[in-house]
Amino acid sequence: MALLGALVCCLLVAWHGRPGLGLPLAPGGSPGPAPAMGQFWHVTDLHLDPTYHITDDHTKVCASSKGANASNPGPFGDVLCDSPYHLILSAFDFIKSSGQEASFMIWTGDSPPHVPVHELSTDKVIDVIANMTTTIRSVFPNLQVFPALGNHDYWPQVNLISTSKSV
Ligand SMILES: *[C@@H]1O[C@H](CO)[C@@H](O)[C@H](O)[C@H]1NC(C)=O
Ligand SMILES: *[C@@H]1O[C@H](CO)[C@@H](O)[C@H](O)[C@H]1NC(C)=O
Ligand SMILES: [Zn+2]
Repeated sequence: MALLGALVCCLLVAWHGRPGLGLPLAPGGSPGPAPAMGQFWHVTDLHLDPTYHITDDHTKVCASSKGANASNPGPFGDVLCDSPYHLILSAFDFIKSSGQEASFMIWTGDSPPHVPVHELSTDKVIDVIANMTTTIRSVFPNLQVFPALGNHDYWPQVNLISTSKSV
């Protein structure tokens, strides 16, 4: 879950610009129909689990395994756990060193971990979002970032849309 999420966060999307979308036109404007091209990063569902740590008792590796044994915990996480900070930093380092030019980043939220409601609070949710905000700003100081809230960026979670499925 966490590993997949981090891979998805590295998704690079290209779009084809058309007049009317507010994207720059080719130099010289019409009649040259050459499409404007641009790229941006889409980062989503980081789901930081600050409790993640490697320990012999695999039920205690991360709160997000909800008491289940982590299967094979390593420095970059475990398939039953949400993301350790190290995994998120690694994904950001990949983005930064990829050499891909991007005009901006879309960050569609969901920073807190999947844990039972009583293990979080409004303060804890805000702390995690603040952590991710500070981290993104420090790794990408010159990149424009457009953030949006996810269904876990609230406490109790999943209260933004009453019928949404939790992801
Ligand atoms: C976790 O693994 C240990 C060691 O194999 C086992 O004794 C324990 O019952 C497991 N706990 C759960 C919740 O599966
Ligand atoms: C974010 O949280 C991680 C893990 O809990 C911690 O190691 C790191 O120092 C925090 N970073 C910031 C900027 O708060
Ligand atoms: Zn999510």
